[in-house]
Amino acid sequence: MAQSVKGMRDLFGAELRWFQHIEETARRVFGRHGYGEIRTPILEELDVFKRSVGESSDIVNKEMYEFTDKGGRQVVMRPENTAGVVRAAIQHKLLTSNDPVLFYYIGQQFRYERMQTGRYRQFWQIGAESFGVATPESEAESLLMLHGFLTELGLKHLVFSINSVGTPESRPAFHAAFRAFFAAREAQFCEDCHRRIETNPLRVLDCKNERCQAALEGHPVITDHLDEASAKHHARLKALLTELGIPFKEDPRLVRGLDYYTRTAFEVLSSDLGAQSALLGGGRYDLLVKHLGGPDVPAFGWAIGLDRLAMVLQQVHGEAPREVPAVLIPLGDRAATEALKLARTLWEAGVALQLETRGGALKKAMASANRMGVQTVLILGDGELDGGTVTVKHMATGEQESWSLEEVATRLAKS
Ligand code: HAM
Repeated sequence: MAQSVKGMRDLFGAELRWFQHIEETARRVFGRHGYGEIRTPILEELDVFKRSVGESSDIVNKEMYEFTDKGGRQVVMRPENTAGVVRAAIQHKLLTSNDPVLFYYIGQQFRYERMQTGRYRQFWQIGAESFGVATPESEAESLLMLHGFLTELGLKHLVFSINSVGTPESRPAFHAAFRAFFAAREAQFCEDCHRRIETNPLRVLDCKNERCQAALEGHPVITDHLDEASAKHHARLKALLTELGIPFKEDPRLVRGLDYYTRTAFEVLSSDLGAQSALLGGGRYDLLVKHLGGPDVPAFGWAIGLDRLAMVLQQVHGEAPREVPAVLIPLGDRAATEALKLARTLWEAGVALQLETRGGALKKAMASANRMGVQTVLILGDGELDGGTVTVKHMATGEQESWSLEEVATRLAKS
């Protein structure tokens, strides 16, 4: 029997209901903030990621699904969506005015990673990117939207970890201090870190190896080596988050696994996910648009792992809110016809309802309704038809009553 490819899974049932609920909430909340959706292709040219996510990142080094297509193009199944959104915004000249441009996206990403809880090779991200504003206020706006989104989903107890990774101008001062620190204890670091200290010293801070993390004790901190403007920016963002009541902590080792960040970098971890799993991450990337051939436009954004978010919500809340709270069961041929008509009226009135169309015994239909976990069952038999009523069974209490056909729509809308 064929199985799905390792790391790629089918979504259905309770888990997919969470996905749908999260996506609907995202569209509602982001729309309120003036963000518009963007959908970019899953395949991008290899260069898009090499030049943005970066050649020193694990993603580009080890994790990309890349291949040559039948036309001889080197393509990649996108490992993330920021680079594609930037590519699209440049290609379609969306960033040529001075106005801010706000996008969100919902889509699959692909990384050839080792399987772990909440880590897949095809996974989903919901992300938001804002272009054109370099201020800490624009970051606070984006984080407020993110906080509102998570709160609306019923998630509490989340802490934002933030850091500043500086700018290419301010980084050499940090690199010098950090290389000296590294050199003094280089035997304690892993082979990968020896490579990282040459290509991108910031990556050493991000090493998952416990020995390296221990060896980093007392390391020089980037925020002590920031240029004046970046230091002011960082202080202002912290002041704004405090003012807005968004709980955060500073994490001097937070550098993120992608190369395009400047100044603010942040993540949100969830204790429900196990030690090393971030629920989301993001930051400022003021140089990327220009670097990929576009105008000099600053940007800030983040992406949430939808698979992980759904998992956490399922742990915290159990079942996702139900789509179909009611089932209508007709008994006999006459009722089957009338049930189709009644269901049509109810659907047109906006009521969510599933219609039993198999015919057959009430007992079997009731057992199905029970398994679906619906709240209300409507039964329409000859007796009900003669009286112009339906019998209503409330599944939670077992209570039964009779409603007139005219009142079904309004009463169902209320229940
Ligand atoms: P990232 O940290 O690589 O950032 O990914 C963001 C989120 O995607 C992670 O926090 C995690 O929840 C989820 N994720 C990543 N890999 C996997 C996986 N293998 N399985 C399940 N979930 C995963 C980015 O991708 C940046 N583009 C974020 C960004 C947007 N920065 C600026 N704008």
